[in-house]
Amino acid sequence: MSYQGILHRYGHLLDLPAHTRAISLLEGNTPLVPLPRLGHELGCELFVKYEGLNPTGSFKDRGMTAAISEALGRGAQTVICASTGNTAASAAAYAARAGLRAIVLIPQGKVAAGKLAGAIAYGAEVIQVDGSFDDALALVVEITQKTPLALVNSINPYRIEGQKSSAFEICDDLGAAPDWLCLPVGNAGNITAYWAGFKQYQKGLPQILGVQAAGAAPLVLGHPVEKPETVATAIRIGRPARGEQALQAAQESRGQIIAVSDAEILQAQKILASEGLWVEPASAAGIAGLLAQTQSAGMEVRGKKIVVVCTGHGMKDPAIITESFTSPKVIPADYDSLFALVE
Ligand code: F0G
Repeated sequence: MSYQGILHRYGHLLDLPAHTRAISLLEGNTPLVPLPRLGHELGCELFVKYEGLNPTGSFKDRGMTAAISEALGRGAQTVICASTGNTAASAAAYAARAGLRAIVLIPQGKVAAGKLAGAIAYGAEVIQVDGSFDDALALVVEITQKTPLALVNSINPYRIEGQKSSAFEICDDLGAAPDWLCLPVGNAGNITAYWAGFKQYQKGLPQILGVQAAGAAPLVLGHPVEKPETVATAIRIGRPARGEQALQAAQESRGQIIAVSDAEILQAQKILASEGLWVEPASAAGIAGLLAQTQSAGMEVRGKKIVVVCTGHGMKDPAIITESFTSPKVIPADYDSLFALVE
């Protein structure tokens, strides 16, 4: 039987109510791509869990198949979320598939083009909030407490259930959990889900390195950030909903949550692209964190098996690239002009 999505493959391991009615776009089953060059440099076996290859271009689809399937089965008619972009696009797609109305709240002017376009294309009602993601999330929480709208942010426990599937896949591919798992941390749903997934699957436990952007690093600073700012707009979050669980995952796994600068994130994005993987800036934070730890903090990676989660595709945020390069040259349509350039 061909692949039918994560609810079909791992549903028996996910805590979902009996009323759940599966809505799938065949999310999950993403490749664990080796990074031989960087791995060789660091002296470790290095892999990228390439979550940008999910149907809407980010890992959010794993949680959304579960949350939308539950909401549909419960009889919800409208789903709502706050988002830095990827959750919005994913909610919009799965709601469309389920025949539900989707409303998404985004921080005005701070959502990358590919995400906003996706949310609109899938037919969501997109509302820009004159404020941050954190402000938008607070609004969504309030309205879902007072009305029958169904909340599909990662506060919703079924999102976490679905996102556990990536930990299962990694263990299935490697035969066991890796030594380290490195990933970006924003609202802290994903780190929570991975840790729950590894604990449940019982194929060993990785140490977890969670990585925040320096301008949006409440879990490193130990207090909320009122005006988070970073080039990695996906994780531009100052008050993570699952912050406590993220800290617990880091502590229990004998890992750490650290911050990296925007420059380190963009450098990591380049390094990934140089091995053929174009990911959005937030997605490069895991690699940036791994490099920072190996270079300065003496994290021992030699001989270790390391998985870095790249959470979203580079095509989500093309402007980051095009704005920092000069436009490609234009030549007349003749052979000599071409030859002069390439010889
Ligand atoms: N990477 C990407 C590409 C994301 O879009 C997000 C979160 C994260 C990492 C962090 O994951 O929130 O579970 O800690 N994006 C959310 C959104 C906030 O609205 O799309 P997290």
